[in-house]
Formats: sequence, C-alpha cells, structure tokens
Amino acid sequence: MPPITLIIAGAGNRGMEAYAPYAIAFPDKAKVVGVAEPRDVLRQRAQEKYGIADNRCYKDWREVAAQPKFADAVLVCTQDQMHAEPAIAFMNMGYHVLLEKPMAVNEADCRAIAAAAKRNKVLLAVCHVLRYTQYTRLLVSLLKQGVVGDIVSVRHLEPVCWWHQAHSFVRGNWRNSKLSSFMLMAKSCHDMDLLRYIIDKRCLRVASFGSLKHFRRECAPAGASDRCVTCPTAVEKECPYSALKLYPHGNPKHWPISVITTDHTPEGVMKALEEGPYGRCVYACDNDVVDNQVVAFEFEGGVSASFTMAAFTRSRGRETHIMGTRGELVGDSRHIKVFDFLTKQETVHDSHKESDGSILSGHGGGDGGVIEAFINAIATGDTSAITTGPDISLESHLIAFAAERARINGTVEEVKL
Ligand SMILES: NC(=O)c1ccc[n+]([C@@H]2O[C@H](COP(=O)([O-])OP(=O)(O)OC[C@H]3O[C@@H](n4cnc5c(N)ncnc54)[C@H](O)[C@@H]3O)[C@@H](O)[C@H]2O)c1
Repeated sequence: MPPITLIIAGAGNRGMEAYAPYAIAFPDKAKVVGVAEPRDVLRQRAQEKYGIADNRCYKDWREVAAQPKFADAVLVCTQDQMHAEPAIAFMNMGYHVLLEKPMAVNEADCRAIAAAAKRNKVLLAVCHVLRYTQYTRLLVSLLKQGVVGDIVSVRHLEPVCWWHQAHSFVRGNWRNSKLSSFMLMAKSCHDMDLLRYIIDKRCLRVASFGSLKHFRRECAPAGASDRCVTCPTAVEKECPYSALKLYPHGNPKHWPISVITTDHTPEGVMKALEEGPYGRCVYACDNDVVDNQVVAFEFEGGVSASFTMAAFTRSRGRETHIMGTRGELVGDSRHIKVFDFLTKQETVHDSHKESDGSILSGHGGGDGGVIEAFINAIATGDTSAITTGPDISLESHLIAFAAERARINGTVEEVKL
C-alpha cells in the first residue's frame, strides 16, 4: 500500500515538530506532499525536510484549497483562531483532517466543524494528545478493569509551570483571549477532555473561579523596566520570570527557544529578546488570560470532579486523584498508584514513559500517538483508535465554553449538547 499523503497547513512549531516528523520516521506509511505556510523560512524548511515539489509549496492554506484535491489528508496546525475555516474547507473537499486543538474558539464554529466531518464522511482527529499517551491508555484500562469500582469523584491538577506560563500565556501566542482563546480553552481543553474520557459520562453542570492574579503591571518589582535586557541587574537577578534566565542558555533549536526567532544563532536569540515579544517584562505585556482557575463539575449519575490550573508550579505532569467505591487511584502522568479497600494493598503501575505534560516530552508520547492513530485509520478504514472524533471532541469543548461562562458570570452553567 502506498504511503498516506499529507499536506501541512501551518508549518510552525506543531506542524513541523509534532506531527509531520511521523513521515520521516515511517516513510512507508506517510509522505508529506504539500505545505502552506506564509513565513518564507519555515516554508522552505518544510520543503527541504520533506522533499516537497516546488509547485506544492503555498503561502496560504487557501491556495491549497483552490487546487483540486492532491493528498489524502491535511494537518491543520494554524493558530487557534484559524482552525475552523481551513478545517471545514478541506473536509468539504474530501480531505481527512488532523486538527490541532482547540477545534475553534467559539461554539458555533466547533459545531460546524463536527457537522462538516460527519456530512462529508471524512476522518477528523482533534489533537487532544493526552488521550494517546501510554500513561492514559494504562489509566483507562485499569479503570475499565474496575480497580477503583465505580468512580465517585475526581480531583485533577494541571501544574502549568511558572516559566511555561510566562512563555506561552504572558509573553507568547496565547497571552490574550482576543488574539487566541481563553486559558481554559487554549491550555486546559485537554483537561476538560481528559476528565470526560476518564469518567466516561456526560458532564451536566459546571462552576468556575479564576483570575489573572500575578502577571499584571502593579505586581512589577520596583525599578523594573519593560524589557529584561534593560532591567537593572539588581532587579533582573531576583526575577524568576526573566527572559535572560529562560532563553539564552538552552538549545535554540528546541522549544521554547526555537519559537522566539527563526534565527537560531546566539545573536538571533539576543535580538529576539531586545526586539520581540519574548523579551518583554512579564509585568508589562498585553496579556489577559488567567494564571489560576478552578472548575467544579457535576457528571451524570452523581459523579463530581474538580480541576485546578495554576501557573505557579514547577515543571511536571498533570496529577489525577480518582476516588471510587472500591479503591483510590493517584496518577502523576507516569506512575499510577491504586489502593484497594478490600485487600488494603497498594499496587504501583508504571507506564514507562516520563511526561512533563508539555511539548518537551512530546506530551508523554501523545503527539506521536495521535498522528499514528490518524494515519493507521486512513490506511485501514478502522477508525476505532481515533478516540477524539467530532462528537466527543465537541462535547469536551462545550464543557470548556460552559466553564468559562461560569467563571465570567459567576453562575452555574449547564453543558448543553
Ligand atoms: N495539542 C497540543 O497539545 C498543542 C500544543 C501546542 C499548541 N497547540 C495548538 O497548535 C496550533 C499551532 O500552534 P503552534 O505553536 O504550532 O503555532 P505556530 O505559530 O508556531 O504555527 C502556526 C503557523 O501557521 C502559519 N500560518 C498563519 N497563517 C497561515 C495561513 N493562512 N496558511 C497557512 N499557514 C498559516 C503561521 O505562519 C505559523 O507558522 C495552535 O492552535 C495551538 O493552540 C496544540
């Protein structure tokens, strides 16, 4: 069977680093035959890396959509507010679509995407990558075996990490809800989805609180300047969020440094800090997304859950605590401890895959897992490995929209399908 052919729409970090590399690792299974990317350096990088023909390199996904269909599938990896249009256009043309989360930034567009997938009978895999990790597979299989009996309550933590928050949600692309989406959608739609997956019941109602507590102008230390490179040494030295501590020392080809500039020399990195958004003081940005949020959930059948997202943690994986009628389970994104009420014994399961929950670990193998499931499903027609299809992904997104309404309005919101 010839390899499944792919087009990258948006050859930025995710398109180039998370999904397309599958075609290099498994050339007999997948081949990249087209790219749409407005930034010349990135488009050329993609062309060279994947050997794409000149006439299949485009500056805009719309140029691809204007051509007759020339591949099996499109990887839609553009920014949050640019998902709905290309996803729907490509599905209407009969392409299968791997769609980065969030599906879209409003309910109507999410519903339209799910409808387009079903109407056109194409595959849609939303990149809720956490479902595809070895850890989550182990966790779900243990729950299915009944190790805790019936789930009664779940407590889930997303420790975003202080520098990740500063990079992505204060200085970076997801800092402002008007430019991308709200925090619960931009970052924690994975967690809404994971809770839905673990509990395996409909979520009925949500309440939520959260704020932008710290990354505000009034929290700046006295004497701080608007850029780290010009900040007085005495102030910069004491600041854990300083761009001078985060960027100049790591490998410039690796995230997060790789995304602050396309010039990966030390000079290029310093220039980005002098002139670009990632050199700004964290207390002097145009950010508005929250740095802490809690959500309380009521699921069908009297199951409750709580979720906490906080910026102010060290780097580590998500933590989940599941309380059931016959036992208690605690997971840390690698190990799963199960305590059995009957035997009073604790068993520790190891998924053998470390995850800090971020791009650095490929989301604990989830990035590779979703593209593998997607390619296999197209190749074989067996879609059972795609656990993030249109309806269930829409449901997870509807939970996030309802929770954000609850936070803003101080209400308890129903999750209406
Ligand atoms: N699944 C996950 O865990 C995960 C993790 C990080 C990011 N994301 C999501 O992935 C998406 C992409 O994030 P990223 O970090 O790769 O962003 P990015 O900015 O690095 O990449 C997006 C690319 O789209 C390109 N683009 C803009 N307009 C275009 C057009 N008209 N046609 C084609 N390409 C166009 C941009 O030039 C850019 O290179 C975002 O929606 C983000 O929220 C998901």
